[in-house]
Amino acid sequence: MTRILAIETSCDETAAAVVEGRKTLGAFVSTQMKEHALYGGVVPEIASRRHIENLPYVVSEAMKRAGVAPEDLDAVAVTQGPGLVGALLCGIGYAKALAYGWGKPLVPVNHIFGHICANYLAEPSLKPPYLCLVVSGGHSHLCYMEDETHLHVLGATRDDAAGEAFDKAARVIGLPYPGGPLLDELAEKGTPQTLGLRVPKVEGLDYSFSGLKTALIQAVERKKKAGEEIQPADIAASFRYVVVEQLLSKAFQCVSETGTDTLVLAGGVSANRLLRRETERRGREAGIRVFYPPLALCTDNAEMIGCAACILYEHGIRAGLDLNAQPSLRLKGHTAFDSLVP
Ligand code: KG4
Ligand code: ZN
Repeated sequence: MTRILAIETSCDETAAAVVEGRKTLGAFVSTQMKEHALYGGVVPEIASRRHIENLPYVVSEAMKRAGVAPEDLDAVAVTQGPGLVGALLCGIGYAKALAYGWGKPLVPVNHIFGHICANYLAEPSLKPPYLCLVVSGGHSHLCYMEDETHLHVLGATRDDAAGEAFDKAARVIGLPYPGGPLLDELAEKGTPQTLGLRVPKVEGLDYSFSGLKTALIQAVERKKKAGEEIQPADIAASFRYVVVEQLLSKAFQCVSETGTDTLVLAGGVSANRLLRRETERRGREAGIRVFYPPLALCTDNAEMIGCAACILYEHGIRAGLDLNAQPSLRLKGHTAFDSLVP
């Protein structure tokens, strides 16, 4: 069984994990969230500086928890992109040094493919083909996973990602960073029909979220002008409802168009309570199997990178010591192909 040390530093979590196939042997995450919260969002330079400081400890803690020594590993893996360039370079530099020093191959991992693979850790029996709704801070994709390394992007956002939309709406309500999870919590106490927001109409299987923020601001203004009191929980619930409705109506349309029997959620937004509940409910109604990662594996972590790396390693993927960060790396794999394996 392939055993890999994986490093993830694409944004504001410094994470390392030792993964064996679809099983985590040991993991450690150091989050910088509180520091970035002071500035209302991730400050790239601070993220890089913390990664550089934290990496030695985070990696040795993951190795210690796994109870493995360098000679027990097959490879060292690292997130190549997408993400913040400075942050990615910290992890890549550190992973290269370890791979070189330990005489191990280096495996580059697409962060978004990592998010998808988080599901294998929770459900080792999960096998393609399946449809995956990838919803994170920077991405919203509907993709058909044909086999372990071939995927087809069938729909994508035309503007903002779902997580970005949640974060922007949270700012409108006055919630601190990170807004998405706080908006979700607040929405649990609200009524989604209060603002009468409409789900945007977008052709085909694509998404659009950028107009929703303007619609939200306008709806709140209208209510205020009419002298109606409006609760933040109702604003949060109204916004969450239209985002989730758009995500799932397209996802289930795609399920029926592709004839798939399995729908998988991935990415930070798959932690959203309404999204999880509604996916379950609609899945039951449609007779579709539904999977989503446990909460700890929805947001950024290195376990998912390690799991993805085991698959890629077994398909012969290796990087040279000239590996560079690719901040805009696309979901289509390490190159512009649909295959994750060139
Ligand atoms: O996957 P992730 O950790 O980072 C990226 O790869 O982008 O996703 C972070 C995004 C943020 O936009 C955050 O607000 C959103 O996921 N998020 C949520 C929830 N938890 C995290 N959005 C809505 N509801 C949540 N419970
Ligand atoms: Zn992510």
